[in-house]
Amino acid sequence: MAGAVGLSQALSYARDLKSLYERSRARERELEQMQERLHAAYRQSLQYAIDLRKTYRRLEQSSFQSLLGLANALEAKDVYTRGHSGRVAALARRIALAAGVAPGAADIVAQAGLLHDLGKIAIPEGVLRKPGPLSEEEWAVMRRHPIVGAQIVAPLEFFAEGAVIVRHHHERHDGSGYPDGLRGELIPLGARIVAVADVHDALASDRPYRPRLARDEVVRHLEAEAGHTLDARLTALCVHLTADAAPERAV
Ligand SMILES: [Fe+2]
Repeated sequence: MAGAVGLSQALSYARDLKSLYERSRARERELEQMQERLHAAYRQSLQYAIDLRKTYRRLEQSSFQSLLGLANALEAKDVYTRGHSGRVAALARRIALAAGVAPGAADIVAQAGLLHDLGKIAIPEGVLRKPGPLSEEEWAVMRRHPIVGAQIVAPLEFFAEGAVIVRHHHERHDGSGYPDGLRGELIPLGARIVAVADVHDALASDRPYRPRLARDEVVRHLEAEAGHTLDARLTALCVHLTADAAPERAV
């Protein structure tokens, strides 16, 4: 009798164990399925993130193109500034490459050259196109354009270095420039390059107050500024690169 009870208990334990095992297997399968679903959801969200990043880059690029359009429109209003930024950009890229800047970074320098005076959009026409000399107050307004330009391009993540160049393109080697009075190599390299290209183009093109200067006069002016307001090495590169060149073509 006792043996029969023992056997029936053992059978009951075995059934319990079997059902426990089956339940735990079912749970395991459920967990596996959940894990697969989680993996699939993870892969999908990764793909969403990649797509979002691509869309963001495309948006940044189209914002950049709009800003270029704005800069062109600003320049085109004035016969004297038309084409200036394009020529500055082309020369700035050549100086950058000659100075050993990597091609990708030289492209950013050129793009900053295209947008360097974008901040002038905030300057009233009366000041921007005043035929006579500017008053002290008008100069103060004019001197804000690098900061305004840098603020306009600041939201473009890929163009962070370009924004720095735009901000500092009127700094001078001897610290007498604006907006921050930086001197020497404290001025970012790209900004020093754009500054040289900017001065070269201003000298070599017609202005409202004088016709373009002859090549030897351009060189004389540049060499007089080298080591004072302009970086000497970059100015020498600019003089060398423009030695027997036709006028710089816009990029
Ligand atoms: Fe400027």
